[in-house]
Amino acid sequence: MNGYKGNLIRIMENQQSLLDFPLTVDGVASYILSGKCQKIAFLTGAGVSVGAGIPDFRSPGGMYDTLKPELLTATKEQRDMMKSDPTYVVNKRLFQANQLCYLELRRPFILGIAETKWKATITHWFIATCHKKGLLTRLYTQNIDGLDFQTKLPEDKIVSVHGTMGLIGCEDCGANCSVEEFNNKVKRNIKDIYKLDPTAPAESTPIPCETCGKNGLKPRTVLYGSRLPDRFFQSISTDFPQNVDLIIVAGTSLTVSPANELPCLVSEKTPRLLVNREPVGKELGIKYGTSSTRDIYSNKECDLVFLYLASKLGWIEDLKENIHEMAPLSQQLLREFEEKKIVPGFEQ
Ligand code: OAD
Repeated sequence: MNGYKGNLIRIMENQQSLLDFPLTVDGVASYILSGKCQKIAFLTGAGVSVGAGIPDFRSPGGMYDTLKPELLTATKEQRDMMKSDPTYVVNKRLFQANQLCYLELRRPFILGIAETKWKATITHWFIATCHKKGLLTRLYTQNIDGLDFQTKLPEDKIVSVHGTMGLIGCEDCGANCSVEEFNNKVKRNIKDIYKLDPTAPAESTPIPCETCGKNGLKPRTVLYGSRLPDRFFQSISTDFPQNVDLIIVAGTSLTVSPANELPCLVSEKTPRLLVNREPVGKELGIKYGTSSTRDIYSNKECDLVFLYLASKLGWIEDLKENIHEMAPLSQQLLREFEEKKIVPGFEQ
């Protein structure tokens, strides 16, 4: 996060052998099937939930791209700050001065999560299947949407790098608040800038903490300028580099530190699979094309890549077991695969 001055990137000794397989998605499947790859770590971002219907942050149509500071209850100075840097809307300094911008922006997300509006995708269930097969070291998710937890992955396998919407607390005194009580207050007190909820009030009023009286209540997510959860640092020291034979990075722009440094913590010969619409992380040393000796890249949609990998690994039945728990688009992709035995974009 901004303000974090640690140095996670260390030079690692060569501990593992080079990938003996082609630097392709098929090569990754062969590596896993060979038994040489026993420990897989994932770093995921908002792109893995796009298939569930949740926009990401930085793509066109994403949260920062569509931010309209003029709709938020804020001073002119606060609006100007958000216009010049949209991440200011989730900055600790702004929240401390004005709780309403965050709550107005996040109102439908907070209430949607409470209603389980969004379901886990093929990508989330692929990660759960890795665990089922005994291959998952850890999932490091930057997402706060809770979809990773829907797959019933044990909590110790998930590191919520940027916190969670599943707990409510006061940024000021640290006191907890029940999720249900908080959500009811969000419904009653916070206006709907998206104009979708006719029951929302016309103007917002703050939600004070019952313990300290300050307007500090919010989901326990990490704001810019705040420290990451201790568990993030504890887990990386346990996992990296020795417990990672493969790191899979999916649906993240790799722009926010220190999460974006995870791919640099593996041994320098450990393969890294990047699944993202654009090639990201070049400044972090991720190599594309012929200059790569261990980085594998697919620019296809996450759900297609993980459906394809599942087909190569013989894991389709594992995914199918959970089809009714999946996002509608994932269900459709899986059904189409069952009919045609082809994943779009991976036709031979
Ligand atoms: P971003 O919005 O920055 O990046 C999402 C990436 O996923 C983009 O590069 C997209 O092109 C890609 N993408 C979108 N849909 C995809 C799909 N279906 N398949 C493959 N790729 C896809 O989101 P994050 O990297 O998660 O932090 O953002 C990191 C952090 O920045 C967030 O955790 C959040 C934000 O500010 C906080 O709020 C603290």
